[in-house]
Amino acid sequence: MGSVLELTDVTITRNGTKLLDAVTWSVEDAHRWVVLGPNGAGKTTLLQIASARMHPTSGTATILGETLGQVDVFELRPRIGLTSAAIADRIPRHERVDDVVVSASYAVLGRWREAYDEVDHERARRLLAWLGVGEYADRTFGTLSEGERKRVQIARALMTDPELLLMDEPAAGLDLGGRESLVRTLDEIAADEWAPATVLVTHHVEEIPPSFTHVLLLRGGSVMAAGPIGETLTSPALSETFGLPLKVVRSDDRWTARADR
Ligand SMILES: Nc1ncnc2c1ncn2[C@@H]1O[C@H](COP(=O)(O)OP(=O)(O)O)[C@@H](O)[C@H]1O
Ligand SMILES: [Mg+2]
Repeated sequence: MGSVLELTDVTITRNGTKLLDAVTWSVEDAHRWVVLGPNGAGKTTLLQIASARMHPTSGTATILGETLGQVDVFELRPRIGLTSAAIADRIPRHERVDDVVVSASYAVLGRWREAYDEVDHERARRLLAWLGVGEYADRTFGTLSEGERKRVQIARALMTDPELLLMDEPAAGLDLGGRESLVRTLDEIAADEWAPATVLVTHHVEEIPPSFTHVLLLRGGSVMAAGPIGETLTSPALSETFGLPLKVVRSDDRWTARADR
């Protein structure tokens, strides 16, 4: 299909500070991107633009062929799947898990008055099963572990069959087993030819699933490097991004990084 996201010189200014500084970035349909950068680099802000929840102060953002500022964002948002801690915090803990997923089709949080079709519930249950949490469909969200909640959120983000999937630190707060299991699931999703173009935000190279194809390195709102992961995710580039000497190693299609002494 071609270009899914096209940012040209996107700058976001708040209180005189540039949260993003002339970001130019292009995401194609078949791409699976990792966005890496330290805390405060602007990663979440970048996803706010990519999910049509924030407008550039200057520059142009074109999402799924629609340019922000010239499109009704309420029509655009259902075409984009987004997971983030901020969204998770707004999910009522007493909400049934399958309702958390189904309610995404109405772009509302919390089951309130809408009547959902049986087909929607079937789709929600299929997605929950695909994410490995099918047996929890009838439980309430609050009774799930942190890792299970992350999976439910991803199922929810996929409910509207989005053309672009954005995940903001989905592995944050998971223990080692939970992380490894989520990385495997994300890898399966990304490897599926029917999966949407995907952007995964993290600050740990250990969380990069093997099938991800591209990386964007962000520091202080500026793009330090962007391109195919094998040639872009180098020790010098990662060191510059995080501001300390780092050694990055790829082994068995997974990545590790540590301080280089
Ligand atoms: N509304 C705002 N006004 C001023 N500064 C903000 C605002 N929102 C975020 N920031 C700042 O912008 C920077 C980038 O934030 P963010 O995109 O959340 O970074 P990341 O997700 O990479 O940790 C941070 O320093 C943050 O404090
Ligand atoms: Mg963030």
